Amino acid sequence: MSKNGTISTSSDKMPKHLKITQISPWVARWTSLIRPKGSVLDLAAGGGRHGRMLLERDHKVTFLDRTIEPLSDLEGTPNAQLIEADLEDGSPWPLDGQKFDAIIVVNYLHRPLFDDLLASLNPGGIFIYETFARGNEDYARPRNPNHLLRTGELLDLVSGKLQVIGYEHGLVTNADITGVKQRLCAVNDLAISDRDDQQPKPHTIMTL
Ligand SMILES: C[S@@+](CC[C@H](N)C(=O)[O-])C[C@H]1O[C@@H](n2cnc3c(N)ncnc32)[C@H](O)[C@@H]1O
Repeated sequence: MSKNGTISTSSDKMPKHLKITQISPWVARWTSLIRPKGSVLDLAAGGGRHGRMLLERDHKVTFLDRTIEPLSDLEGTPNAQLIEADLEDGSPWPLDGQKFDAIIVVNYLHRPLFDDLLASLNPGGIFIYETFARGNEDYARPRNPNHLLRTGELLDLVSGKLQVIGYEHGLVTNADITGVKQRLCAVNDLAISDRDDQQPKPHTIMTL
């Protein structure tokens, strides 16, 4: 029994992010661009809601988190790689040399990883990022600026490196958690072109 008289259950103790199992609409919007059967990194995967969906679609998925207990049911699953690593303790990037056809990061930010993340994308790979941004402090946690993207920060990150095909920054009220979010989808194909003007090819943009 808790102090306020309610009975606590194991589900009460479950971290909030693990209770969210629906797919982010932003991630759902872009996953069809990932190469069929391509490899995917679900970084700071939590319960692995996004990677699990892609496993079901025949992708090979690497789930990385500092706690992989919520993913233990996936141990031994073909095409699922589970990596337990603390990304912020100063250790080297744990996936050195591994490249992916897609990288998905949702509701997690640790800026020192940015270079390693971009270097881990295969040519033509899809970079899908969505996390809290400045302005969110007026609504809820996170409020620490270290965990909030600055205006245009994801655009600046990929500028001249990836082709941006989707970007938003604003108050999101119809997704997993209400808050101010910045969302990006970009493709690692600026250097790939069969066009006379050397521009990368356009991609199909699905309307929500
Ligand atoms: C808000 S949850 C998001 C989980 C998942 N991306 C999702 O959207 O459902 C943040 C995740 O980051 C992980 N995380 C936080 N700090 C970490 C660190 N230093 N190294 C690795 N993972 C970390 C947490 O364990 C947690 O699973």
